[in-house]
Amino acid sequence: WKHGYKANLKAYEILYNNGIALDAVEFGINVTELDAEVRTVGYGGYTDDKGKVTLDACIMDHRGNAGSVVYLQDIKNPISVARKIMENSNHVMLAGAGAQRFALKNGFKKEDILYSKSKKDWEQWIQDKSKLKNLINEDNHDTITMLVLDNKGNLAGGSSTSGLRYKSHGRVGDSPIIGSGVFVDNAIGAAGATGQGEEIMKTVGSFLIIELLK
Ligand code: GLY
Repeated sequence: WKHGYKANLKAYEILYNNGIALDAVEFGINVTELDAEVRTVGYGGYTDDKGKVTLDACIMDHRGNAGSVVYLQDIKNPISVARKIMENSNHVMLAGAGAQRFALKNGFKKEDILYSKSKKDWEQWIQDKSKLKNLINEDNHDTITMLVLDNKGNLAGGSSTSGLRYKSHGRVGDSPIIGSGVFVDNAIGAAGATGQGEEIMKTVGSFLIIELLK
C-alpha cells in the first residue's frame, strides 16, 4: 500500500542509526497512524456503521513478547498502546474502554480522532448505503503491517488499522490478533497480513506461514 512508503522511511532512519527493530516498527507505523489522509489507519480512519472510529493494533518482538489493543477509541497511536501493554502490563491484549483507561494511565491523550472527511463520508453513506459495499480495494483498505530486521539480527513486527470501512459496530479484524495479523519467530522469520481480516483469522495466517517456513 502507498502509505507504507513514509513509514518505511522513518523505520529506515531508525535502523540506519543502529536503532532496534521494535522502535522502527512502532515509530514507522506512528507516521501512518498520524496521517489523516491515510483513511484506513489511526487518525483519519473511516468509521464503522455507527460513525465511530475504532482502532486495532498489535506488536511483537524478537523474544516472542506481544501486545495488542482492540476496539480502541479516541487515541491516535494504537501501535504505541500495544507496545505499552506488552512492556508495562501482565497482559497481551486489552480491549475497548479498558484499553483506553490503560492508555490514559500510561500517558496517552484522549483526542477526537474523527477526521472531518470521515464524518462527511459516513453521513453520505448513511443516506445511500448502496453506493459502497464492504469491498476491499485501494480506497477502502488497508492496514499497515511492518516487519523489521535490525543490525543485531533481531526481528519485530506490528500492525495497525481502523479496519474495514463501515464495519459492523464491534467488529474486530485480524490485525490485533497475534498469529493472524503478525507473527515473529526470531529463529525463523516474521510474517504479517493486510487484507480482509475475516479470511486471515480463519487460517491464523501469519503464524501458519512461519510454521510452514519452519
Ligand atoms: N486487515 C485488517 C482488517 O480486516 O481489519
